[in-house]
Amino acid sequence: MLSVMKASIVSFSIAFFSIAHAIIPNFDDLYRETEDLIKLSGTFQRLKNNDEYFVNFDDNKKPLDYGTFEYIVVGAGTAGGIVANRLSESNSKVLLVEAGPRDPDTTKVPALGTFFFYTPWDWGYNITKQDKICLATIDKRCIFPRGKMWGGTSSLNGNVYSRGTKWDYDTWAEIVGNPDWSYENVLPYFKKAETARFKIDLDKSYHGFDGPQFTDLIEDTPGLTKMLLRAFKERGSIEVDYNGRSPYGVSRVQNFLDRNVRAGTAHSYIRPAAGRPNLLISDNSLVTKVIIANDRAVGIEFVKNGKLYFAQSSKEVILAAGAINTPQILMLSGIGPSEELKKHGIKLVKALPVGQNLQDHVSVFPLFFRTNHTYYNLILKEQLKSWYENRRPLTGGWGIQVVNFRNLKNDRSSKPDIEFITVGPPFLSSTIATANGFNEEYTSAYQILNQYTDFTFDVVLLHPESKGEVTLQSKDPRDYPLINPNYFAAEKDLETIYQSIKWLLEIKNTEAFKNFKAERLLVAMPGCDENYKTDSRNWWYCVIKHLAFPGSHVTGSAIMGTCPSNSVTNPELKVHGIRGLRIADASVIPVTISGHTTAPTVMVAEKVSDLIKAEHGQ
Ligand SMILES: Cc1cc2nc3c(=O)[nH]c(=O)nc-3n(C[C@H](O)[C@H](O)[C@H](O)COP(=O)(O)OP(=O)(O)OC[C@H]3O[C@@H](n4cnc5c(N)ncnc54)[C@H](O)[C@@H]3O)c2cc1C
Ligand SMILES: *[C@@H]1O[C@H](CO)[C@@H](O)[C@H](O)[C@H]1NC(C)=O
Ligand SMILES: *[C@@H]1O[C@H](CO)[C@@H](O)[C@H](O)[C@H]1NC(C)=O
Repeated sequence: MLSVMKASIVSFSIAFFSIAHAIIPNFDDLYRETEDLIKLSGTFQRLKNNDEYFVNFDDNKKPLDYGTFEYIVVGAGTAGGIVANRLSESNSKVLLVEAGPRDPDTTKVPALGTFFFYTPWDWGYNITKQDKICLATIDKRCIFPRGKMWGGTSSLNGNVYSRGTKWDYDTWAEIVGNPDWSYENVLPYFKKAETARFKIDLDKSYHGFDGPQFTDLIEDTPGLTKMLLRAFKERGSIEVDYNGRSPYGVSRVQNFLDRNVRAGTAHSYIRPAAGRPNLLISDNSLVTKVIIANDRAVGIEFVKNGKLYFAQSSKEVILAAGAINTPQILMLSGIGPSEELKKHGIKLVKALPVGQNLQDHVSVFPLFFRTNHTYYNLILKEQLKSWYENRRPLTGGWGIQVVNFRNLKNDRSSKPDIEFITVGPPFLSSTIATANGFNEEYTSAYQILNQYTDFTFDVVLLHPESKGEVTLQSKDPRDYPLINPNYFAAEKDLETIYQSIKWLLEIKNTEAFKNFKAERLLVAMPGCDENYKTDSRNWWYCVIKHLAFPGSHVTGSAIMGTCPSNSVTNPELKVHGIRGLRIADASVIPVTISGHTTAPTVMVAEKVSDLIKAEHGQ
């Protein structure tokens, strides 16, 4: 009882005072840390493996006993932090194990997210070499960011609050043969998580108003935001709340935002629960395996500071290591495709299609515009000061302002297939090149872009046909898994992007753009310009193959379903054939989402927490 009261007081006080001043009392510290972050990001060699955990490790030593817990949650990321919070609301004893450290204060500034790709707070993953995408990157291996800290990827992502649509969840329910996952039945969980702070004129009944996670709009970019809304309206869009009744139209972007502070899982769920006596958080701890005895998960092994530990679970182990690492941990534990396990000499515990069905969006910034407006011209310290006082331009993720969902056939009775996102300023010039891991040629071509005056569009392919996989490099937990999303394996995916770019290109002819004097800026496209006529179909195909990069909305790699031959968990998220083991993160999501994947992952985490509590009579 005491712990429950304490927890609710903590979360109340955070809700009430949570502006940057309360979280980061000293501005000069924030400024210094930001300078350090940017410097580090410019020089850091991204991590290549998990060796850091194994310094002075003795492979032959028996694991040390870490104690017994009712629940063990693996990964304090977007989903794991939520599950740990919810399960420790009562007096259940919960262990939360996270590979990374605490999230640094600089993660609170949404616009700094991309700098984290080149720091130890990111796993440092690349995808395998591709031949139809990522051609502008070093070695044709796009970088594949994943957060490695409290809050996981929600601590460094684009911060966009976007749930997907009714059609996605109704398809999901159909695939898993269970109405529990229909839109009607998951909507309460979206609402449970949310406290919407922005004024909602239309679709109030779709939002939540007393959940742990704040959502908000960001301050408009003077002139530009309204101009962009107007331009899309001229192209036939109406203004909508894309998280409400219908996504079709144009909207100001909704952010996970508590005043000016990034409201990812670390802020909204982990910190408010971290003081509970029944919740133990072990960070800097790499989980290497789930221990399974007689088809029952009985605990986990993890490595911390060169030592191996065993923690026992009396009720359940919940894997929430994300769509790349959850499959790796399962396979290292003997759960996976039998061929794959055999190849690496891992003893088979249960044959399941782990790592298969990897689905991801594809993103591309194909069009650039310059205007004669300067949207801000502050030096870093001034920008931060402005953020500290709750003002733009750093409050939003990556300068995202306006989003527009579209169906190429203009059929508003089914899923949108494309999302247009306006990006910048800020977040342009070399930052796009760096964030995408571009090679020297493309990085230098991008120097022409100006942080203060230019903007671009992110075109997101929402329902690609191409699917990929996560496999193992070896059975050694020091080695990273192999990620091959197989982008553009289906040519239709490229064509859909090309068709939507053609539609978007017309935006330059709107009165809104003309009056604003927003002009297209052609950035050199090495490898394409010399071979094809600008704007021809072949030129666009070439450009897309060079510039497109992982959408980072990965789902399906430990897919939920009904049958063990083509799924990994059942609709209650229990791993088929193994008792006491569930998966709760983006990897279970069986569909591609017509939106972004944080909010759906939050929903999954809220829902599975209720399923677990119900099963154990809490
Ligand atoms: C660059 C980028 C931008 C994005 N932008 C947006 C956006 O704007 N809006 C949006 O909705 N979505 C966005 N997404 C997607 C979204 O962030 C993810 O889908 C979501 O955060 C996934 O949550 P998760 O819980 O599955 O995984 P994560 O949040 O990644 O959590 C996994 C956690 O497990 C830990 N872990 C992994 N392996 C181990 C191990 N062996 N032992 C211990 N701990 C381990 C990790 O360190 C991490 O903390 C973006 C993603 C990226 C990469
Ligand atoms: C990622 O790709 C780069 C460029 O090819 C390479 O230098 C780096 O070692 C790769 N990282 C991993 C983890 O494979
Ligand atoms: C922007 O300003 C410059 C310099 O004043 C001028 O040469 C240019 O024509 C202007 N461009 C537009 C689109 O108004």
